[in-house]
Amino acid sequence: MRHIIVSTWVGMWFLAPLSAGTSNSLMDVRADGEQLVVANPNHGSVTLVDTVRRSKVREISVGGKLEGVTWVGKGPIVVATVYDQDRLAFVDVEAGRVIASLPVADEPYGIVADTEGRRAWVTHDYPGQVSEVDLESRRVVRTIPVGRFIRGIAWSPTDHRLYVTEYFTARLHAVDLTQGKVVDTWSGQPQDNLSRHVVLHPRRPRAYLTHIRSMTDVISARGSIFPHLTVYRLIPATDGAGSAVDRRTSLALDTYNNVYVVTNPWEAAISPDGRRLYSIYAGTDDGNVSTVIDDDYRELERWEEPVRLGRNPRAIRVSPDGQTVYVYNSLDFTVSIHDADMKRQAVVPVCEPPHSPEWWRGKVLFNSAKQPMSNARWVACSSCHPDGGHDGRVWRNPEGLRRTTGLWGIAHTHPLHWSADRDEVQDFEFTIRGRLMSGRGLFDGPIARKRVDQPTELTEKLAGRSKDLDSLAIYCNSFEFTLSPHIPAPGKLSESAQRGRELFFSPQTRCAECHRGPYYTDSSLTQPYRKHDVGTGQDDPTEKMGPLYDTPTLLGVYRLTSYLHHGKAASLRDVLTTFNRGDRHGVTSHLSNGQIEDLVEFLKSLPYEAPPRETPNTVPYRLKAARRGETGSGGVGSSSAPRPAEQPNQEAARR
Ligand code: HEC
Ligand code: HEC
Repeated sequence: MRHIIVSTWVGMWFLAPLSAGTSNSLMDVRADGEQLVVANPNHGSVTLVDTVRRSKVREISVGGKLEGVTWVGKGPIVVATVYDQDRLAFVDVEAGRVIASLPVADEPYGIVADTEGRRAWVTHDYPGQVSEVDLESRRVVRTIPVGRFIRGIAWSPTDHRLYVTEYFTARLHAVDLTQGKVVDTWSGQPQDNLSRHVVLHPRRPRAYLTHIRSMTDVISARGSIFPHLTVYRLIPATDGAGSAVDRRTSLALDTYNNVYVVTNPWEAAISPDGRRLYSIYAGTDDGNVSTVIDDDYRELERWEEPVRLGRNPRAIRVSPDGQTVYVYNSLDFTVSIHDADMKRQAVVPVCEPPHSPEWWRGKVLFNSAKQPMSNARWVACSSCHPDGGHDGRVWRNPEGLRRTTGLWGIAHTHPLHWSADRDEVQDFEFTIRGRLMSGRGLFDGPIARKRVDQPTELTEKLAGRSKDLDSLAIYCNSFEFTLSPHIPAPGKLSESAQRGRELFFSPQTRCAECHRGPYYTDSSLTQPYRKHDVGTGQDDPTEKMGPLYDTPTLLGVYRLTSYLHHGKAASLRDVLTTFNRGDRHGVTSHLSNGQIEDLVEFLKSLPYEAPPRETPNTVPYRLKAARRGETGSGGVGSSSAPRPAEQPNQEAARR
């Protein structure tokens, strides 16, 4: 019975037409193979490349942070996802201009289109839904809820399904397009993380996901982060007789390459004949060619040694004839052209470096798991703070449980860390040289020995010691919040959130005593630092630095995966109820259920207007030109700026 079901399924796949461009990527090759488009995330531009002449044709400005692009049919129109501006940009690459902009739900990430160019499907990272777009009328015709935090997407004409990956779990969901809902889900290990892409085999029922594993109980350059490639078998969870079938093989890509470690697997591509799989690693600037094995066990076999690529490769595509492979080296700003064995044949520059040389250098260092950042090659800053975000994890640090924070807005909310034990991003030299990364470090000479019970980083001044370290600071301080999707319009609150706002600012709840000013925190570099015991210090027996914590910003809390420094609160409601026994964290016990709901609604609406780019507590090591997120171009770094005079954190006027 089982055999019949499986072989019918495989038979279905064998009848499938070969179709390229069906998985999400920053790059897409046109069906005839003669042109490709690449979306440049930090420039907000799309570049058209002539693959016959191997040259750049033109770069078209779109604006915003781009995360995906696809051809519409045979062109000349392409559609790009503008992640930070919640829209799709329709670009005519022949005419060289944006012809339409379609507002969509929050955080559009991956996009795939059908071969004819009639329909496209878009993943929305937060809150987890797929939009179906009619490409002719340029309208969203259907939205389908799918998991939480979804990024990767592949379209399968064979079974009329979409396959969608969850970013923080590497779970795979199958969406049946006739029913318009999730009909199957594949799960990996609980440690699986940061899965942004999925590609399907053209004939075998297989999906390939590149991702990492975050081993949160281990803080070590060799044990915290592991590179993985998971192969899911796209067969029913049980055979005909009802017994469970193993539907997953996961390859550890470090041992896969013997002693050669690769980091931050980003994307994979399969040759049209289905014989080869190419995978790229954004932390070590290299990739693998693998042979697809037609078994249910090994699945893939490494072909020769890993190949060296340009810096921070983020996209890989194979030409329709299978003879050429294209790699987007995102921090060299080039597309490299390779033969099927990955021998490099040409390099095409696609755009200029954005922002400033310091910002660029900072981003290179932040994404690298090589020296001087790490001697072991497993861990990069971006393994836990991908593009300045967080990894949705709570780490068992030497000082106790610590939830990873995103770096949005940190230019204004120093001191850093839950325990305010760092006062400048340059202090992350301690992380680089420490147990987690074991790197050579970004300046010559010794550094004070760090002790958990002493404020080593606060006494050691590292700003201005090296251009690289200051560049890392400029990059880390460049991330800004986007507006919450839980608001009716910019600057506006729903009625419930408006009631919640009144509660938040009332003297009874006391919230605004600590969460004050435009960033909703009283964090300030004025000595002595304000830290507070809000009754959360006893929840974790391994805690070494509590019970006083730095007040976190409340902007963007709608988007977190867990709450408080130890991540033990699963929801905002929990923070205000079960984790606020005895009213030690503001006063909430007198609030009715409905009032708690209103308060949560208000918290979810933050930010409902753009916070200022300059506050009395803003640090000098940042991009000079004020910009949102990582977008735009130009701007001058301020690596030679002095440290700020210590200023009191002004009470920002309430707006
Ligand atoms: C293994 C995961 C991991 C890696 C790798 C990592 N971090 Fe972090 N990062 C964390 C965690 C967890 C926290 C919260 C720790 C705390 O507050 O004590 C954090 C906090 C931070 C903060 C403070 C943010 C704030 O609002 O206070 C900054 C800045 C930061 N990291 C930058 C970096 C840089 C730069 C690197 C690379 C040199 C790096 N991180 C590497 C997990 C990681
Ligand atoms: C005495 C200062 C103080 C007051 C008053 C206060 N907070 Fe906090 N708040 C903090 C501190 C400190 C933390 C971090 C505690 C921890 O992580 O253990 C925090 C954490 C939070 C968090 C979790 C944020 C995250 O990133 O996980 C939320 C949400 C929050 N507060 C909301 C409120 C609300 C709503 C009120 C009013 C009912 C309030 N706070 C009152 C200091 C305060």
